[in-house]
Amino acid sequence: MLLLLLLLLPSADGQTRRVTGEKKADSCECAVDPDLWSFPAGKYEAVLQKVQSCEVSLNSLQEQVNLSSQRLPDIQALVNNLTARLEPHQYLNNLGLYSSLPLRELVDELSQLETNVDAIHSQLNNAQTQKLSREVRKLRTDVDRMERSDAFNMKTVKEKLRYLKNSAESCKTIPTDFRGEDRHCLKGLITSISDPVMTQTSSYGKSYISGSWGQQAQMDSEGQADSYWIQPLVNSHIWGNTLRVYQTNEDFMASANHKDFTFAPSHTHANSIEGPSAVLYGEALYYHCYKSPDVCRYDLKTNAVKRVTLPGTGVGFSNKFPYCYYDCRANSDVDVEADERGLWAIYATVGNHGNIVLSRLLWDSETETLNVTQTWETTLFKKAVSNAFMVCGVMYATRYVDEYREEVFYAFDTATGKHDDSLALPMEKIAKGVASLSYNPVNKQIYMYNDAYLLAYKANF
Ligand SMILES: *[C@@H]1O[C@H](CO)[C@@H](O)[C@H](O)[C@H]1NC(C)=O
Ligand SMILES: *[C@@H]1O[C@H](CO)[C@@H](O)[C@H](O)[C@H]1NC(C)=O
Ligand SMILES: *[C@@H]1O[C@H](CO)[C@@H](O)[C@H](O)[C@H]1NC(C)=O
Repeated sequence: MLLLLLLLLPSADGQTRRVTGEKKADSCECAVDPDLWSFPAGKYEAVLQKVQSCEVSLNSLQEQVNLSSQRLPDIQALVNNLTARLEPHQYLNNLGLYSSLPLRELVDELSQLETNVDAIHSQLNNAQTQKLSREVRKLRTDVDRMERSDAFNMKTVKEKLRYLKNSAESCKTIPTDFRGEDRHCLKGLITSISDPVMTQTSSYGKSYISGSWGQQAQMDSEGQADSYWIQPLVNSHIWGNTLRVYQTNEDFMASANHKDFTFAPSHTHANSIEGPSAVLYGEALYYHCYKSPDVCRYDLKTNAVKRVTLPGTGVGFSNKFPYCYYDCRANSDVDVEADERGLWAIYATVGNHGNIVLSRLLWDSETETLNVTQTWETTLFKKAVSNAFMVCGVMYATRYVDEYREEVFYAFDTATGKHDDSLALPMEKIAKGVASLSYNPVNKQIYMYNDAYLLAYKANF
């Protein structure tokens, strides 16, 4: 007897298959052709492979997860580092916003300003100081109101405070400072700068691309009246300890008969120079002292070095706020300059958000001390300018145009606290990098240390 057994086997085409069986004793036998069974071995293998490769990719995923968790602390550190470095620019985020800490700082600054203005006013008592006192009183009323309510524009008040502080510094300029011979200063800003009137290669050779140079900058200096000088940064283009002086223009042009001065025993001594910062003024070289917020004065006659610390919170040095275009000039943080009004330091502070700060320096020959007499805060970000110099108490800043041209684009007047960023005075150059730019009030020339080329220009008023 035959039985029909229905074996429910999935076949390749997904259909069930009919198989014929035969009854033998108590059992039923049927011949099953394994070929006909068509177990989907192919599919099974494919799935098996997928499972295996899935394990492999799971593993590699796990590896990635492991790697990420190892790198996480590194990334965290990087974020922390970036946050720390962005901190000085944080104020950009807070434009017009308020918080209690800046307010407290502001109140402190205002109190300081009130004390200063009172002192200046009682000393001078003129229309300018009266106006200043009135404005400071008005600001005090505004700030007192701010403390009571909590809605105010911090940016506006800070700007007002900066303006008043600058005005107070400008008031301090004692009229006897003005001498007859700088009448050209009354004409206003520089109107143009000539093509180079002198071109010379540094006597130290083309490999010393950073430093400063110029001509004696003090009007009534006795000794080194016509002398030319050059100060090369011989260690890493950052540090140095020597000054070369030529007595005449002929000697300078011929690189002959120089006299070398050593103002520090080594490149790493506290009295050595950092950055292209020097100026020869009278009997002394003034420059930025090694890894410090200080300006040094080296006396060519006595070899004595005196110093003063620049004012401000977080004075930048050791490459914190150098001059830059898209490259930065290494460690050009503090720039010492001379003009008709005397000596200046151009630098930047964290307190002024990395913007340029100007301090007026004075050598007191009686007490033999180097003093800072006044300080102005600008809104010009130092790392956004390629260099700067002083003329008639006005700071001029340059920007990089291309390999052969710089442009004076900005002026800040310490007499008024006002600035003008619409200037466009071109300056030709030979090489790309400008290490230093200094004006000389004796002959109204501007000196550029252009990598290792020494260029001089005439300033026209
Ligand atoms: C991931 O890290 C765990 C624990 O550290 C470890 O047991 C595992 O083997 C690691 N896996 C891979 C794929 O590296
Ligand atoms: C951040 O990293 C730079 C370069 O790696 C380093 O010079 C600097 O000191 C770091 N700053 C901080 C605050 O950790
Ligand atoms: C310079 O500073 C010294 C020391 O603080 C002081 O005695 C002297 O009077 C100051 N000189 C001037 C001109 O301000």
